[in-house]
Amino acid sequence: MKIAIDGPAGAGKSTISKEIAKRLGFIYIDTGAMYRSVGLAALNAAIDTTNEDELSRIIEDIDISIKNIDNTQRFYLGVDDVTEKIREPEVSVAASNVAVVPAVRLKLVELQRRLAESSDVVMDGRDIGTYVLPNAELKIFLTASVDERAERRFEELKAKNVDTTFDAVKNDIIYRDKNDSEREFAPLKPAHDSVIIDSTDLSIEEVIDKILGLVKERRNVII
Ligand code: CDP
Repeated sequence: MKIAIDGPAGAGKSTISKEIAKRLGFIYIDTGAMYRSVGLAALNAAIDTTNEDELSRIIEDIDISIKNIDNTQRFYLGVDDVTEKIREPEVSVAASNVAVVPAVRLKLVELQRRLAESSDVVMDGRDIGTYVLPNAELKIFLTASVDERAERRFEELKAKNVDTTFDAVKNDIIYRDKNDSEREFAPLKPAHDSVIIDSTDLSIEEVIDKILGLVKERRNVII
């Protein structure tokens, strides 16, 4: 079974997806971390993250790998563990910029489809239901108001001692929402057959319950 969870920045996709995968014994695939890794690689190489030609040139040599260490997924760029670094606000914006470039997307989508080939997966991102796994048995579009999403992300960054403000986080989210929805290739949008969940007034547990209920329904249909 493939479960696709898409939605805008800070909607809680990764927290929810990780937990759903754990409860079902599925593999969780964080596609945002892959775009973040490419964004970081571009920043490290001092490349303009909006320069399509340069990004198309370097993408073939970027070596992203995922390792499971002590039951947590670690992201590597070459030999460097970048798991924490890719969560920094500067990298979020770089990720959204590089994600516009078709050559970047094609390379990462190939990796994502390969990872999903032989397992039950929960995959989260922006284009999973519409482009990466169009035949997923369950597609969720998880959203929340921009203020709620900014508040959640701000608290998350504060807990990690990242020096930022609520307004900076909110502006960053507004920028990425626009950039992600308006790009030509595989933009952020709900798939026609997705279930839209607005989590503005829902707890994490309530969202998980809703999704697990849908999984049960769909599994009955599939079997
Ligand atoms: O966690 P958050 O929602 O802030 O972002 P993320 O899921 O880690 O994704 C970071 C950026 O990668 C997004 O703003 C998108 O531009 C891009 N992305 C994408 O284009 N397609 C995906 N399937 C996943 C992420």
